[in-house]
Amino acid sequence: MKILVVGGGGREHAIIKKIKENESVTEIFATPGNGGIAKDVTCVPIGAKDIDGIVEFAVDNSIDYAVVAPDDPLVLGCVDALNAKGIPCFGPDAKAAIIEGSKVFSKNLMKKYNIPTAQYEVFDDMEKALVYLETAPIPTVIKADGLALGKGVIIANTREEAKDAVLSMMQDKVFGESGNNVVIEEFLTGPEVSVLSFTDGKTVVPMVSSMDHKRALDNDQGLNTGGMGTVAPNPYYTDAVAKECMDKIFIPTINAMNTEGRTFKGCLYFGLMLTPNGPKVIEYNCRFGDPETQVVLPLLESDLLTIMQAVTNGTLAETEVKFADKSACCVIMASNGYPKSYDKGFEMTIPESISDNVYVAGAKLDGEKLLTDGGRVLGATAISDTLKEAIDKSYDMVKSIKFKNAYYRTDIGKRALAAKED
Ligand code: AMP
Ligand code: GLY
Repeated sequence: MKILVVGGGGREHAIIKKIKENESVTEIFATPGNGGIAKDVTCVPIGAKDIDGIVEFAVDNSIDYAVVAPDDPLVLGCVDALNAKGIPCFGPDAKAAIIEGSKVFSKNLMKKYNIPTAQYEVFDDMEKALVYLETAPIPTVIKADGLALGKGVIIANTREEAKDAVLSMMQDKVFGESGNNVVIEEFLTGPEVSVLSFTDGKTVVPMVSSMDHKRALDNDQGLNTGGMGTVAPNPYYTDAVAKECMDKIFIPTINAMNTEGRTFKGCLYFGLMLTPNGPKVIEYNCRFGDPETQVVLPLLESDLLTIMQAVTNGTLAETEVKFADKSACCVIMASNGYPKSYDKGFEMTIPESISDNVYVAGAKLDGEKLLTDGGRVLGATAISDTLKEAIDKSYDMVKSIKFKNAYYRTDIGKRALAAKED
């Protein structure tokens, strides 16, 4: 089988390494991939948002199955376009990807179907939003409606900050059209849990839970990033919590999407907060999370491609999805200065002995040399029987990887470890 993976980050690298384990796979292409992925499979310089280019490539190269990993192409209808050419895909069509593509859609869905989430108001008029903020409880949370590279959420600790956020989204259009509508919602508290799930629209199978570390600096300080590290499983996600989430959130969401005529097939990501009033949905993503995937998939013992095809074919209920009873930790190595400005183009050395467990996010090839080429450069994942060992092993890996200007958090997994010891 010839497989196409759309995307080019650490998440895609993890997906590709897992798909490679299937013996029926003869060739894998990544569009656009990156310099690290190019060491494993063929990368083709077609941008993930170039839907026409992706479809043309897939047709010309007789692709048997495609995995569309990032949010943008999913929301833009990449799966619809590939399906129209007879190419089966893993990932939701555009009608279902709206669950991530529009926060107004997802909030209204949750309200309509009684799925627990933060209280909210939607505004398409800036003046009304500003008036509302005069009396809204503070802190408050302002969210741009559309995709905003993971930056469209502002937690405002003062009324002034809240107003500035509305002005920047609705007047200055810092997120472009994504800020035409904003959601202003209740500030929730509690541990956060990421739960990725496979669903074929009938059955929902949650994967092992995980914990992201979104802030740039140790102790959850500094700016929000795409994610500086992850651990799995998430110790806050007990069996009792999992059951409650299944009954009150996961199944109702799948059913709601079906009722709306937007059957979701693919990986549905539940971003949850375990509040004093029970688990609530912070956000839905229509795709695998990054860097959650880099700890979740290494723990998957069943065959990924088989599961993906079962999702496409609607046979997930009969398919084995088994995770190892172990812990995983992924530490992200970034370019110093990320998520603001940073230098790149530095040569990287990754010891051969650990390269199977290194997922490259931002690098390019210069002949045989691998050069840094992004904010997040790579993730080093270790698996072990205990979380403590997985963390230690992952930091040993990080210390053996060399490139100039490298930066990483030193406390990935610390909070999870403390929670386990509580
Ligand atoms: P997102 O970019 O949607 O992943 O959101 C970024 C982060 O903002 C989340 O991981 C939460 O930590 C935080 N967040 C989003 N919504 C809320 C909320 N209603 N209350 C508290 N924190 C929130
Ligand atoms: N790690 C969060 C995300 O993928 O959106």
